[in-house]
Amino acid sequence: LWGLSCSSAREIATGSTLNFHPEIRCRDDAAAGAWLVEREPEVARITQCVEAVAAGASGLLVIEGQAGIGKTALLDAARQQAASAGVRSLTARAGELERDEPYGIVRQWLEPELKSATGARRERLLEGAAGLAEPALVSGPAPAEAADSPATLHGFYWLLANLAADDPVLLLIDDAHWADAPSLRLLDHLSRRLEGMRLGLVLACRPPGLDDEGELLARLIAEPSAPIVRPALLTIDGVQALLRDALGDPPDAAFAQAAHAATGGNPFYVRELGRALCEQGVRGTAAEVARIDAVAPRSLARSILMRVSPPARELARALAVLDEPAEPALAAELASLDRDAASVAAAELARAGLIGTGRPMALAHAIVRAAVLASLSGAERSTWHRRAATLLAGRRSGAERGAIHLLAAEPSADPDVATTLLEAARLALARGAPEVGARMLRRALAEPPGADAVDDVLLALGRAEAQADQPTAAEHLWELYRSSQDPVRRGEALRGLPQAMGPHPDRLREAAAALDRTIPEVGPLDSELALRLEALRLGISYMLPGEGPARDRQVERFLGLPGTTPAECALLAMCARAMTDAGKSAGEVVAVAERAIANPRALEAEGPGSLFLEVCAALRQGERFDLLDPFLDRALALARQRGSTLGFVVASVWRSLSARLQGMLREAEAEGRAALDAVAPHGIYRLGAITMVVEALIEQGRMDEGRLMLDSAAISEELDAQRPSTQILLARAALRHASGDRELALADLRHAFERIGRYTSASPIAMDARLRLVEILHELGRDDDALAEAERALTIARNWGTGGKLGAALRAHANLIGGEEGIAQLRRASDLLASSPLRLERAKALIDLGAALRRAGRRADAREPLRAGLDLAERAAAAPLADRAREELAASGIRVPRQRVGDQLTPSEQRIVEMAASGATNPQIAQALFVTTKTVESHLANAYRKLGISSRRELTQPGAQQRTSPV
Ligand SMILES: Nc1ncnc2c1ncn2[C@@H]1O[C@H](COP(=O)(O)OP(=O)(O)OP(=O)(O)O)[C@@H](O)[C@H]1O
Ligand SMILES: [Mg+2]
Repeated sequence: LWGLSCSSAREIATGSTLNFHPEIRCRDDAAAGAWLVEREPEVARITQCVEAVAAGASGLLVIEGQAGIGKTALLDAARQQAASAGVRSLTARAGELERDEPYGIVRQWLEPELKSATGARRERLLEGAAGLAEPALVSGPAPAEAADSPATLHGFYWLLANLAADDPVLLLIDDAHWADAPSLRLLDHLSRRLEGMRLGLVLACRPPGLDDEGELLARLIAEPSAPIVRPALLTIDGVQALLRDALGDPPDAAFAQAAHAATGGNPFYVRELGRALCEQGVRGTAAEVARIDAVAPRSLARSILMRVSPPARELARALAVLDEPAEPALAAELASLDRDAASVAAAELARAGLIGTGRPMALAHAIVRAAVLASLSGAERSTWHRRAATLLAGRRSGAERGAIHLLAAEPSADPDVATTLLEAARLALARGAPEVGARMLRRALAEPPGADAVDDVLLALGRAEAQADQPTAAEHLWELYRSSQDPVRRGEALRGLPQAMGPHPDRLREAAAALDRTIPEVGPLDSELALRLEALRLGISYMLPGEGPARDRQVERFLGLPGTTPAECALLAMCARAMTDAGKSAGEVVAVAERAIANPRALEAEGPGSLFLEVCAALRQGERFDLLDPFLDRALALARQRGSTLGFVVASVWRSLSARLQGMLREAEAEGRAALDAVAPHGIYRLGAITMVVEALIEQGRMDEGRLMLDSAAISEELDAQRPSTQILLARAALRHASGDRELALADLRHAFERIGRYTSASPIAMDARLRLVEILHELGRDDDALAEAERALTIARNWGTGGKLGAALRAHANLIGGEEGIAQLRRASDLLASSPLRLERAKALIDLGAALRRAGRRADAREPLRAGLDLAERAAAAPLADRAREELAASGIRVPRQRVGDQLTPSEQRIVEMAASGATNPQIAQALFVTTKTVESHLANAYRKLGISSRRELTQPGAQQRTSPV
């Protein structure tokens, strides 16, 4: 069929087969794609990608170009190449209506796979985190409530990973410019994690548009690792070759040139031109050049449509409106044709090359669809879509697709339409597709809905937009707040606001005022909601300067809550944190925090990434690691079980802090890095994770790494004035101090305390930084200032009342005053810290005590605290502290050689080795740490090399793992 001649083409055109089908032209599988004109480089790139996947590696390729340039044809070539290389390929194609189909693309790949998978294989596919995607699959169990969309994404990623674990897989996606946002987010996520998977991704799209999906797509294809091919328009020679194909003989050069000018070298138009010329018996001679203009290729599809009979035209319109391969019966019904008339019309369309011959029925090309749609006015199109929606609603499993047609129809003030859209939006949200849900709800709002449904629509819309990070979320929630007659609805609107509007003080103040008005009205109607709003109000107080007195009154009202319901616990958690600011004692604060976490249901109900986790602040300041650590273990387990990246990040950041304070710097670093690996590149928790890693690095004396890490945070001078970002300022001060930049460090600290002072004057928070301030002032010779700061720290610490804070403040004070009194205070400090879990602080007190004794000439007395301090510092991996202890010991007459650090495991390696040794597989470890299997593999490979072992089995043998933890 290579040289399809004009006469056989005519036969086909009058018969029933469609000509110009690449599949039937390809005789030789190995040469798949070779029939394409002027596409050698593109085909070579495809071959490369397919070969990589066949060899067990990953591959990625983006094909971008205008309509008709040959993207689908190249994907066909990829599919054929995959088949001959023994690589399974899965294909998905987006349609213009597809962007309203939650995870439409991904589901096209996976649903048939899962449907055909039997027991054991299905289980394997859905194993582990992949199970989180199940609610988003239509064939999965019916979801009850909105899914956490990051969890769904995480689930789909692992479902694809599991799929590719069996055999290599090539994923093909055509017309990605119409893909839905959740699928695009997943592809973006996947494309950055392909390495190490036996998975290829070939994506074809027209240039991205300017809307949200366009932006997502643009980001995906701008990924530096994504190689792009952009097929060019055909040259005159290329046009000649294609026309020879259609006409049987090579056309004359002048003819080819004219055809090139008329079509711009776009293969689709060249083919259509060839088809029409062939039908008219044109042979392609120079004398026939004028015939080209008569055919007017660019309006070909439309003109063909005008030449078919009215029933065929209606059927083509029905197919264009449905925009997917349709069951003939459905298409016929939409076209208002009975069965017989429909099959006659279908045969006519097939003869004209407008549809394929397969079932279900579909238009031959997107350009044909666009031309058919262009023959309808906006109002006509709207009517068609509305009818399609009605027809689909009456069909099994058609309801969701039906709603998509409602989206394409003009608003008509039909309350039923709004209700249908609201239902469909809920389903989309349950499938983890907030963007899609938001679009449906916006459309429902425009309908507009009946008076009784407006509140529902607005609330769902605000929440969906907030989940999708869309800026209009706050507007819609405020609109609900202002317009609703129902206090509970107003309360729910306010509850959604913080996530929707960000922490800008002006906005927070507005929300606070609205909460103060609304809470009393909600109380009698819904007490749980009222308590949650109170918790939120306290959360806002925490973030707003000058809220002290109001906050303290609030706290007083709730201290007596028993903590029986989750909302009570959430409120108690916020009370505990607020009390820390309010100058209460550790005893009082911890008692409240304990009540908040006693009820295990609270964490489950509030979620691992929620405000509830702020209870950790109270426990950490109260030095109650015995309560904090098990609580964080629970939060981490819950985050894993739910696939909540946010929950994982929040818990890891807290665990890093807890580990550092308890003198496990390598663990602290590993936790901080884990959070950083999992966090979104622009996520609000990124700064927190960076702070944790930096602080852990400084204490280990790894200043250069710390500096690099801090640079990656890109702190600007106008570092935004939100309270939480004070942390990174303190980390920078620590780094600058440790590197000897005292003045700069001082400036950072002054700035930070000025900021903290806007919120609280008596809080024990940032005690470390306060004591650093004392130290720096002392080093700068400003002892009066230093003493004033030290006394302030002592007052705060006494008031707070924990051994750790008091011990630390005493130590700083003692170092200032020196002499025998100083030594006595240092002794008291190390006694206070002797039973404290704050091992790093304990080490510092002991070493300072030893140093003071040594300076006082009591060398023998100095040795014991120095040795004890050195031991603690070494176990913590606190190199600078250990060095200091060793220097002091040397001055006291004892030389302790530096421990030889061999090829030590990095903290991240250590952690993964421990998980592997306890029997976890690589994918299990990867899922637990929210990283890729490849990352796990490379950490393990490094660890094996350092440990001198070659297999996982040897890990479980005694002595194989290094232990660095002091506990
Ligand atoms: N290089 C080529 N050589 C021969 N035929 C080609 C070539 N490129 C495309 N074609 C043919 O041109 C027609 C249009 O190509 P194709 O459908 O692949 O375009 P597309 O880029 O996918 O367009 P759209 O963006 O509208 O989907 C098809 O019939 C295809 O077989
Ligand atoms: Mg195409």
